[in-house]
Amino acid sequence: MQTATMTDTSRSTLIVLGNEKGGSGKSTTAMHVIVSLLGQGHSVGAVDLDARQGTLSRYIENRAALNRRNSLSLPCPRFAAVLPSSRRNRDDAEKEDLENLEAALNKLRPADFIVIDTPGSASHLSRLGHSLADILITPLNDSFIDLDLLARIDPDAHSILGPSIYSQMVWEQRQMRARAGRRPTEWIVMRNRLSHIDARNKRVMSRLLDQLAQRIGFRLAPGFGERVVFRELFPKGLTLLDLKEDGTGVDMTMSHVAARAEIRSLLDVIGFEEPNPQAANDQDAASAGQEGSANKINGAKAKTRAMVG
Ligand SMILES: Nc1ncnc2c1ncn2[C@@H]1O[C@H](COP(=O)(O)OP(=O)(O)O)[C@@H](O)[C@H]1O
Ligand SMILES: [Mg+2]
Repeated sequence: MQTATMTDTSRSTLIVLGNEKGGSGKSTTAMHVIVSLLGQGHSVGAVDLDARQGTLSRYIENRAALNRRNSLSLPCPRFAAVLPSSRRNRDDAEKEDLENLEAALNKLRPADFIVIDTPGSASHLSRLGHSLADILITPLNDSFIDLDLLARIDPDAHSILGPSIYSQMVWEQRQMRARAGRRPTEWIVMRNRLSHIDARNKRVMSRLLDQLAQRIGFRLAPGFGERVVFRELFPKGLTLLDLKEDGTGVDMTMSHVAARAEIRSLLDVIGFEEPNPQAANDQDAASAGQEGSANKINGAKAKTRAMVG
Protein backbone atom coordinates (compact mmCIF):
# COMPACT_ATOMS: atom_id res chain seq x y z
CA MET A 1 0.00 0.00 0.00
CA GLN A 2 1.44 3.35 -1.02
CA THR A 3 0.36 5.22 2.09
CA ALA A 4 2.94 3.53 4.30
CA THR A 5 5.77 4.92 2.19
CA MET A 6 4.75 8.56 2.45
CA THR A 7 7.64 10.76 3.49
CA ASP A 8 7.72 11.84 7.12
CA THR A 9 6.49 15.39 7.51
CA SER A 10 6.99 15.60 11.26
CA ARG A 11 8.23 19.17 11.26
CA SER A 12 4.84 20.42 10.15
CA THR A 13 1.66 19.52 11.99
CA LEU A 14 -0.72 18.12 9.38
CA ILE A 15 -4.39 18.86 9.84
CA VAL A 16 -6.71 16.97 7.50
CA LEU A 17 -10.39 17.74 6.85
CA GLY A 18 -12.07 14.54 5.82
CA ASN A 19 -15.30 12.60 5.68
CA GLU A 20 -15.98 11.35 2.12
CA LYS A 21 -19.33 13.13 1.98
CA GLY A 22 -19.94 16.28 0.01
CA GLY A 23 -21.43 19.42 1.49
CA SER A 24 -20.68 18.78 5.15
CA GLY A 25 -18.37 21.77 5.64
CA LYS A 26 -14.87 20.40 5.10
CA SER A 27 -13.65 23.25 2.90
CA THR A 28 -15.37 25.91 5.00
CA THR A 29 -13.83 24.52 8.18
CA ALA A 30 -10.44 24.13 6.48
CA MET A 31 -10.43 27.81 5.59
CA HIS A 32 -11.37 28.85 9.13
CA VAL A 33 -8.60 26.69 10.62
CA ILE A 34 -6.09 28.09 8.09
CA VAL A 35 -7.01 31.72 8.78
CA SER A 36 -6.95 31.23 12.55
CA LEU A 37 -3.45 29.72 12.41
CA LEU A 38 -2.23 32.48 10.07
CA GLY A 39 -3.70 35.07 12.42
CA GLN A 40 -1.55 33.66 15.20
CA GLY A 41 1.55 34.22 13.13
CA HIS A 42 2.15 30.61 12.10
CA SER A 43 3.38 29.69 8.66
CA VAL A 44 0.60 27.68 7.04
CA GLY A 45 0.43 25.67 3.84
CA ALA A 46 -2.86 24.55 2.31
CA VAL A 47 -3.41 21.55 0.05
CA ASP A 48 -6.59 21.05 -1.97
CA LEU A 49 -6.93 17.32 -2.66
CA ASP A 50 -10.42 18.02 -3.98
CA ALA A 51 -9.02 20.05 -6.87
CA ARG A 52 -11.82 18.99 -9.27
CA GLN A 53 -14.37 20.65 -7.03
CA GLY A 54 -11.77 23.25 -6.08
CA THR A 55 -13.70 24.88 -3.23
CA LEU A 56 -10.66 25.56 -1.05
CA SER A 57 -8.67 26.72 -4.08
CA ARG A 58 -11.38 29.21 -5.01
CA TYR A 59 -11.78 30.31 -1.42
CA ILE A 60 -8.08 31.23 -1.30
CA GLU A 61 -8.19 32.86 -4.76
CA ASN A 62 -11.21 34.91 -3.69
CA ARG A 63 -9.28 36.10 -0.65
CA ALA A 64 -6.28 37.16 -2.72
CA ALA A 65 -8.63 38.98 -5.10
CA LEU A 66 -10.29 40.83 -2.21
CA ASN A 67 -6.87 41.88 -0.94
CA ARG A 68 -6.08 43.36 -4.37
CA ARG A 69 -9.48 44.95 -4.86
CA ASN A 70 -9.72 46.61 -1.45
CA SER A 71 -5.97 47.12 -0.87
CA LEU A 72 -6.11 44.83 2.17
CA SER A 73 -3.41 42.59 3.52
CA LEU A 74 -5.41 39.69 4.93
CA PRO A 75 -2.98 36.81 5.48
CA CYS A 76 -3.14 34.07 2.85
CA PRO A 77 -1.67 30.57 3.06
CA ARG A 78 0.84 29.16 0.64
CA PHE A 79 -1.14 26.82 -1.50
CA ALA A 80 -1.03 23.72 -3.73
CA ALA A 81 -3.78 21.75 -5.49
CA VAL A 82 -3.48 18.08 -6.43
CA LEU A 83 -5.65 16.45 -9.09
CA PRO A 84 -6.16 12.68 -9.05
CA SER A 85 -4.01 10.79 -11.51
CA SER A 86 -5.71 9.99 -14.80
CA ARG A 87 -3.55 6.92 -15.45
CA ARG A 88 -5.61 3.84 -16.20
CA ASN A 89 -3.35 1.32 -14.53
CA ARG A 90 -4.16 1.39 -10.83
CA ASP A 91 -0.59 0.93 -9.58
CA ASP A 92 0.65 3.67 -11.90
CA ALA A 93 -2.16 5.98 -10.84
CA GLU A 94 -1.47 5.42 -7.14
CA LYS A 95 2.24 5.99 -7.67
CA GLU A 96 1.53 9.24 -9.47
CA ASP A 97 -0.90 10.38 -6.74
CA LEU A 98 1.78 9.78 -4.16
CA GLU A 99 4.41 11.67 -6.16
CA ASN A 100 2.07 14.60 -6.77
CA LEU A 101 1.12 14.87 -3.13
CA GLU A 102 4.74 14.68 -2.01
CA ALA A 103 5.65 17.39 -4.52
CA ALA A 104 2.84 19.57 -3.16
CA LEU A 105 3.99 19.10 0.44
CA ASN A 106 7.60 19.82 -0.52
CA LYS A 107 6.49 23.02 -2.21
CA LEU A 108 4.80 24.16 1.01
CA ARG A 109 7.54 23.21 3.45
CA PRO A 110 8.84 24.49 5.74
CA ALA A 111 5.54 25.31 7.44
CA ASP A 112 4.34 25.10 11.04
CA PHE A 113 1.03 23.68 9.84
CA ILE A 114 -0.21 22.15 6.61
CA VAL A 115 -4.00 21.96 6.26
CA ILE A 116 -5.27 19.38 3.77
CA ASP A 117 -8.80 19.47 2.37
CA THR A 118 -10.04 16.17 0.93
CA PRO A 119 -12.74 15.20 -1.59
CA GLY A 120 -16.25 14.16 -0.62
CA SER A 121 -15.83 10.67 -2.03
CA ALA A 122 -13.65 7.63 -1.42
CA SER A 123 -10.49 7.80 -3.51
CA HIS A 124 -6.83 6.94 -3.30
CA LEU A 125 -5.89 10.59 -2.87
CA SER A 126 -8.34 10.89 0.01
CA ARG A 127 -6.83 7.82 1.71
CA LEU A 128 -3.34 9.24 1.23
CA GLY A 129 -4.46 12.49 2.82
CA HIS A 130 -5.95 10.65 5.80
CA SER A 131 -2.74 8.68 6.31
CA LEU A 132 -0.90 11.97 6.85
CA ALA A 133 -3.23 13.36 9.51
CA ASP A 134 -1.72 14.31 12.84
CA ILE A 135 -5.17 15.78 13.42
CA LEU A 136 -8.22 14.65 11.45
CA ILE A 137 -11.29 16.87 11.60
CA THR A 138 -14.50 15.28 10.35
CA PRO A 139 -17.46 17.65 9.98
CA LEU A 140 -20.74 15.82 10.13
CA ASN A 141 -24.05 17.28 9.03
CA ASP A 142 -26.41 17.30 11.95
CA SER A 143 -28.92 14.82 10.65
CA PHE A 144 -29.58 11.27 11.64
CA ILE A 145 -28.91 10.11 8.08
CA ASP A 146 -25.40 11.51 8.15
CA LEU A 147 -24.42 9.34 11.10
CA ASP A 148 -24.02 6.49 8.63
CA LEU A 149 -20.77 8.12 7.68
CA LEU A 150 -19.37 6.87 11.00
CA ALA A 151 -21.33 3.71 11.65
CA ARG A 152 -24.07 1.42 10.49
CA ILE A 153 -27.08 2.25 12.63
CA ASP A 154 -30.23 0.22 13.18
CA PRO A 155 -32.90 2.72 12.12
CA ASP A 156 -35.58 1.26 14.40
CA ALA A 157 -33.66 0.44 17.56
CA HIS A 158 -31.25 3.36 17.08
CA SER A 159 -28.38 1.12 18.01
CA ILE A 160 -24.91 0.78 16.52
CA LEU A 161 -24.50 -2.24 14.25
CA GLY A 162 -20.84 -1.71 13.34
CA PRO A 163 -18.33 0.73 11.91
CA SER A 164 -18.88 2.34 8.53
CA ILE A 165 -16.52 1.90 5.60
CA TYR A 166 -15.16 5.37 6.34
CA SER A 167 -14.47 4.61 10.01
CA GLN A 168 -12.73 1.40 8.96
CA MET A 169 -10.58 3.35 6.51
CA VAL A 170 -9.58 5.84 9.23
CA TRP A 171 -8.81 2.93 11.57
CA GLU A 172 -6.62 1.26 8.93
CA GLN A 173 -4.71 4.49 8.27
CA ARG A 174 -4.16 4.87 12.02
CA GLN A 175 -2.84 1.29 12.24
CA MET A 176 -0.49 1.95 9.36
CA ARG A 177 0.83 5.06 11.08
CA ALA A 178 1.38 3.07 14.27
CA ARG A 179 3.32 0.41 12.37
CA ALA A 180 5.46 3.13 10.79
CA GLY A 181 6.21 4.51 14.27
CA ARG A 182 4.31 7.75 13.74
CA ARG A 183 2.21 9.35 16.40
CA PRO A 184 -1.46 8.40 16.33
CA THR A 185 -3.97 10.53 14.50
CA GLU A 186 -6.01 12.70 16.81
CA TRP A 187 -9.55 12.38 15.43
CA ILE A 188 -12.08 15.13 16.08
CA VAL A 189 -15.66 14.87 14.84
CA MET A 190 -17.65 18.10 14.73
CA ARG A 191 -21.36 18.48 14.11
CA ASN A 192 -22.09 21.08 11.47
CA ARG A 193 -25.20 23.00 10.46
CA LEU A 194 -26.80 22.42 13.84
CA SER A 195 -30.46 23.13 13.34
CA HIS A 196 -33.72 22.81 15.14
CA ILE A 197 -34.27 19.17 14.43
CA ASP A 198 -36.76 17.83 16.93
CA ALA A 199 -35.58 17.31 20.47
CA ARG A 200 -35.96 13.55 20.41
CA ASN A 201 -33.75 13.16 17.32
CA LYS A 202 -31.21 15.48 18.88
CA ARG A 203 -31.05 13.35 22.00
CA VAL A 204 -30.67 10.14 19.99
CA MET A 205 -27.92 11.74 17.87
CA SER A 206 -26.04 12.88 20.97
CA ARG A 207 -26.31 9.49 22.64
CA LEU A 208 -25.13 7.61 19.54
CA LEU A 209 -22.27 10.05 18.93
CA ASP A 210 -21.09 9.67 22.52
CA GLN A 211 -21.17 5.89 22.16
CA LEU A 212 -19.36 6.06 18.84
CA ALA A 213 -16.72 8.40 20.23
CA GLN A 214 -15.87 5.73 22.82
CA ARG A 215 -16.08 2.86 20.40
CA ILE A 216 -14.15 4.18 17.43
CA GLY A 217 -11.96 6.67 19.23
CA PHE A 218 -12.67 10.29 18.40
CA ARG A 219 -13.39 13.45 20.36
CA LEU A 220 -16.51 15.48 19.73
CA ALA A 221 -16.37 19.20 19.06
CA PRO A 222 -19.54 21.23 19.60
CA GLY A 223 -19.81 22.31 15.97
CA PHE A 224 -21.30 25.18 13.96
CA GLY A 225 -24.92 26.23 13.69
CA GLU A 226 -26.75 26.55 10.37
CA ARG A 227 -25.85 30.11 9.34
CA VAL A 228 -26.20 31.86 5.99
CA VAL A 229 -23.09 33.90 6.74
CA PHE A 230 -20.84 31.01 5.64
CA ARG A 231 -22.22 31.25 2.11
CA GLU A 232 -21.82 35.03 2.08
CA LEU A 233 -18.20 34.88 3.17
CA PHE A 234 -17.00 32.38 0.55
CA PRO A 235 -17.14 34.66 -2.56
CA LYS A 236 -15.13 37.28 -0.68
CA GLY A 237 -12.59 34.75 0.58
CA LEU A 238 -13.39 35.85 4.12
CA THR A 239 -13.86 33.87 7.31
CA LEU A 240 -15.66 34.79 10.50
CA LEU A 241 -12.23 35.48 11.97
CA ASP A 242 -11.64 38.39 9.57
CA LEU A 243 -14.71 40.42 10.43
CA LYS A 244 -12.98 42.64 12.95
CA GLU A 245 -10.70 43.93 10.19
CA ASP A 246 -11.50 47.21 8.45
CA GLY A 247 -12.40 47.20 4.79
CA THR A 248 -13.93 43.73 4.48
CA GLY A 249 -17.33 45.19 3.63
CA VAL A 250 -19.12 42.83 6.05
CA ASP A 251 -20.56 44.30 9.24
CA MET A 252 -20.43 42.30 12.46
CA THR A 253 -23.83 41.25 13.76
CA MET A 254 -24.85 39.38 16.89
CA SER A 255 -25.19 36.26 14.78
CA HIS A 256 -21.56 36.66 13.68
CA VAL A 257 -20.43 37.03 17.27
CA ALA A 258 -22.22 33.78 18.15
CA ALA A 259 -20.70 32.09 15.10
CA ARG A 260 -17.20 33.22 16.08
CA ALA A 261 -17.75 31.67 19.51
CA GLU A 262 -18.52 28.37 17.75
CA ILE A 263 -15.28 28.59 15.78
CA ARG A 264 -13.41 29.30 19.00
CA SER A 265 -14.93 26.18 20.57
CA LEU A 266 -13.65 24.05 17.73
CA LEU A 267 -10.18 25.56 18.03
CA ASP A 268 -10.30 24.97 21.77
CA VAL A 269 -11.09 21.31 21.23
CA ILE A 270 -8.17 21.01 18.83
CA GLY A 271 -5.85 22.64 21.35
CA PHE A 272 -7.11 21.29 24.62
CA GLU A 273 -5.73 17.81 24.46
CA GLU A 274 -3.15 18.51 27.12
CA PRO A 275 -3.76 21.96 28.53
CA ASN A 276 -0.37 23.47 29.14
CA PRO A 277 -0.64 26.94 30.66
CA GLN A 278 3.09 27.52 30.31
CA ALA A 279 2.99 26.95 26.56
CA ALA A 280 -0.31 28.79 26.24
CA ASN A 281 1.25 31.88 27.75
CA ASP A 282 4.45 31.61 25.80
CA GLN A 283 3.31 32.99 22.47
CA ASP A 284 6.77 33.70 21.21
CA ALA A 285 7.90 30.15 21.76
CA ALA A 286 4.84 28.93 19.89
CA SER A 287 5.41 31.09 16.85
CA ALA A 288 9.12 30.20 16.73
CA GLY A 289 7.92 26.77 15.54
CA GLN A 290 10.71 24.89 17.28
CA GLU A 291 8.63 22.92 19.75
CA GLY A 292 6.55 19.78 19.35
CA SER A 293 3.04 19.86 17.95
CA ALA A 294 1.26 19.75 21.32
CA ASN A 295 2.98 22.91 22.49
CA LYS A 296 2.53 24.49 19.09
CA ILE A 297 -1.20 23.82 19.26
CA ASN A 298 -1.53 25.05 22.84
CA GLY A 299 0.26 28.26 21.90
CA ALA A 300 -2.00 28.54 18.88
CA LYS A 301 -5.02 28.21 21.15
CA ALA A 302 -3.94 31.09 23.36
CA LYS A 303 -3.52 33.34 20.36
CA THR A 304 -6.82 32.30 18.85
CA ARG A 305 -8.59 33.31 22.04
CA ALA A 306 -7.00 36.71 21.80
CA MET A 307 -8.05 37.03 18.17
CA VAL A 308 -11.63 35.76 18.19
CA GLY A 309 -12.57 36.66 21.74
N1 LIG B 1 -22.70 25.81 9.28
C1 LIG B 1 -23.12 26.13 8.04
N2 LIG B 1 -24.24 26.85 7.85
C2 LIG B 1 -24.66 27.17 6.61
N3 LIG B 1 -24.01 26.83 5.49
C3 LIG B 1 -22.88 26.11 5.61
C4 LIG B 1 -22.36 25.72 6.88
N4 LIG B 1 -21.22 25.02 6.68
C5 LIG B 1 -21.04 24.97 5.35
N5 LIG B 1 -22.03 25.62 4.70
C6 LIG B 1 -22.23 25.78 3.25
O1 LIG B 1 -22.45 24.50 2.71
C7 LIG B 1 -21.84 24.38 1.45
C8 LIG B 1 -20.88 23.19 1.48
O2 LIG B 1 -19.82 23.46 2.38
P1 LIG B 1 -18.34 22.99 2.05
O3 LIG B 1 -17.46 23.54 3.12
O4 LIG B 1 -17.98 23.32 0.65
O5 LIG B 1 -18.52 21.42 2.23
P2 LIG B 1 -17.58 20.22 1.73
O6 LIG B 1 -16.21 20.76 1.54
O7 LIG B 1 -17.66 19.18 2.83
O8 LIG B 1 -18.19 19.71 0.46
C9 LIG B 1 -21.15 25.70 1.19
O9 LIG B 1 -22.02 26.49 0.41
C10 LIG B 1 -20.99 26.31 2.57
O10 LIG B 1 -20.99 27.72 2.54
MG1 LIG C 1 -15.01 20.70 -0.13
